[in-house]
Amino acid sequence: MRNEFREAILKLFLLVALSLFLSLTAHAATDDVKAIALAKQNACLGCHALDKKIVGPSFQAVAKKYANDPSAIVFLKNKIIKGGSGSWGVVPMPANPKLSDADVSLLTSWILRGAPSAN
Ligand code: HEC
Repeated sequence: MRNEFREAILKLFLLVALSLFLSLTAHAATDDVKAIALAKQNACLGCHALDKKIVGPSFQAVAKKYANDPSAIVFLKNKIIKGGSGSWGVVPMPANPKLSDADVSLLTSWILRGAPSAN
């Protein structure tokens, strides 16, 4: 009897863990879709691609460069809003003053995740 009870608790625990995992990955996938739409609407993809340099660096190269930098999210959010040069060369990135803070956060974390499904 006690073993059955333990088994039931274990099954319940696994079920909760699984559904938590599924809802987290589903959430990240929705954020990716939103970020791609924003990147298209704001012409980011005219200058950036997932895996090759166009005018600006590839988003994979950006993710790699800042992989171990805990201040990257703040630095890159600011850079996307204000634009500027110096990280990758002399060609400046244009400013995006009209993007909301939430949209810039979404774009930045998507880029730092390696811009999944951008191609
Ligand atoms: C006209 C071309 C152009 C457009 C449009 C553009 N970028 Fe860039 N981007 C650049 C260039 C050039 C750089 C390199 C700047 C540098 O060397 O500091 C860059 C750099 C970046 C970086 C890395 C910054 C750093 O300091 O390492 C990120 C992140 C980025 N862009 C995101 C975006 C996003 C998001 C958008 C759309 C809202 C966008 N870019 C639109 C040209 C562009």
